[in-house]
Amino acid sequence: MCGIFGFVSTLERDPEVVLQGLRFLEYRGYDSWGIAVGSNGLVDTDKATGPISDATTNLGRSNIALGHTRWATHGGVTEANAHPHCDCRRRFALIHNGIVENYQDLAGRLGPGHRFLSQTDTEVLVHLLEEEISRQPDLLAALLTVFRQVEGMSAVAVLDAQSGQIALAKNGSPVALGWGEDAIYLASDPSALLEYTHRMTFVEDGQAALLSDSGVVLTDVRTGEIVQPEVRVVTWDTRRAGLDGYAHFMAKEIHEQPAILRHIADRKAQDAAALASLIRDAHDVYLIGCGTAHHAAMSARYLLAEVAGIKSTAAAASEMTLIEPLLDEGSLVVAFSQSGETLDVLEAVRAARQRGAKVAALVNAEGSSLDRFANLTLLLECGVERCVLATKTYTAMVAVMHLVSHLITGDADRGVREVRAAASRVESLLDRETVHGLIKSTARLIVDHQHLFVLGRHRNYPLALEAALKIKEVSYLHAEGFAAGELKHGVIALITNGTPCLILAPDEDYRREALAAAAEVRARGAFTVGFSPRAEAEFDITLPVHGASSAPYEIAGASQLLAYELALLLGCDPDKPRNLAKSVTVK
Ligand code: AGP
Repeated sequence: MCGIFGFVSTLERDPEVVLQGLRFLEYRGYDSWGIAVGSNGLVDTDKATGPISDATTNLGRSNIALGHTRWATHGGVTEANAHPHCDCRRRFALIHNGIVENYQDLAGRLGPGHRFLSQTDTEVLVHLLEEEISRQPDLLAALLTVFRQVEGMSAVAVLDAQSGQIALAKNGSPVALGWGEDAIYLASDPSALLEYTHRMTFVEDGQAALLSDSGVVLTDVRTGEIVQPEVRVVTWDTRRAGLDGYAHFMAKEIHEQPAILRHIADRKAQDAAALASLIRDAHDVYLIGCGTAHHAAMSARYLLAEVAGIKSTAAAASEMTLIEPLLDEGSLVVAFSQSGETLDVLEAVRAARQRGAKVAALVNAEGSSLDRFANLTLLLECGVERCVLATKTYTAMVAVMHLVSHLITGDADRGVREVRAAASRVESLLDRETVHGLIKSTARLIVDHQHLFVLGRHRNYPLALEAALKIKEVSYLHAEGFAAGELKHGVIALITNGTPCLILAPDEDYRREALAAAAEVRARGAFTVGFSPRAEAEFDITLPVHGASSAPYEIAGASQLLAYELALLLGCDPDKPRNLAKSVTVK
């Protein structure tokens, strides 16, 4: 989703600082960008469509600047639609994350004579501000009057070239403030601020802020009352956020998994114990997430049931509307989210809390909305995940729930041992040239097929869904994951000569069924790839994975690598797949 980066400084700064900040937010997905600086009481802007990676700007140095990367919602991908948007007198430059659901109604409230230059829902706000400031000269008060009229989840920030201030208001869509030495920064993602400061204030929903060269004033949007800003020291270290010799962040982050699994085994047992007791004490347990995080929640359901005998429900966060009426004080909702900003997850946990349920969260982004909202947060500590695809954070979520499941049984050491063993097996799988070579040749053999299928039974079913999602997201091939037992109930109609079918068969239990499914698709011409400890006549190719407790991690690693190799063969960008955003902060 859209990215925000800006500053108010006591010194004149090069606008390249803003470009750099926006580059740090690239992974969130965008299609155009823009920067505004204050110059002699007026706004200068620079906007463009396309990537910001090699962009430059001719804007002059300034002590106030505001930038934005846009993921188009209303209005096409054009330079005119890129934010910031200016008022008619070019005093203000306004940027916006979210959707102004009532923008036509708001446009009807404007007086005559305004010049609209874009097709966006956002631009109406800056013209409303232009009118409001003539009624009340205080920038924050004027912005709040406009903001209170907006329907929908939004974060709005406006640069005032006349007063040298930036005002912002937020209701959904994250905003963090960074307390630098000679500047106050704002960004839609705290990781973009770490270059300048670790001291941050996270603007809560329903709060507004005024940034000036004398500091920050934080207020409540509804009442206008002053709020004391809470300054939090964020411990994230982005020094490792470079490529470190890898061709793409996706490859780097896949290979970071063994170290992260070891870190979780060694350092997260105590946090996991707190979650284990919440789960043990809950009357009913719901595991929710979106996309890959939903698949991690589904794997957690098998771990809790098989290891700890705990019954739970896994659901896509967007489908929690069915469950919400059933929640009460005895309920526990465990939310899985790498970014901690996925709107469907935030709405589900807010609704859960309104019904008295407790909320626990597995989150990677420290300081994110979900991190700050949950009753208990378990930080994944994977470091920044720059690739749009979730890889290392997926196996980290599974590993945490692996520890939690064994903690519930009272055998914490077994959970630690198994996760550490999984780390070694994933490391061996990822680093063995023979396996990597096999995965590359598998990719070459299946890349020309538009449709491929991934079959997994029981605990391998979520893994099948996740493997298919990785392949879809990064290679744009149509991959379908499904419960292997469902094969003959319809999917088999799609199997034709050469159709690639990935068969997940790591364990002895359910192996017979997996081999039977492989035989059935092969009898219809399919090309079968077995994820298995040993070769079988039913497999045209076998990717070697061990069984039992390390299987989920090995299958995840192997399918992530397969997806990556498919993307390379097809000339797709593994780090920034088309149409996708790293964090979906709109509905
Ligand atoms: C993962 O590869 C996808 N990019 C996507 O499905 C992601 O898992 C989903 O949007 C949830 O994101 P979150 O973990 O930040 O909540």
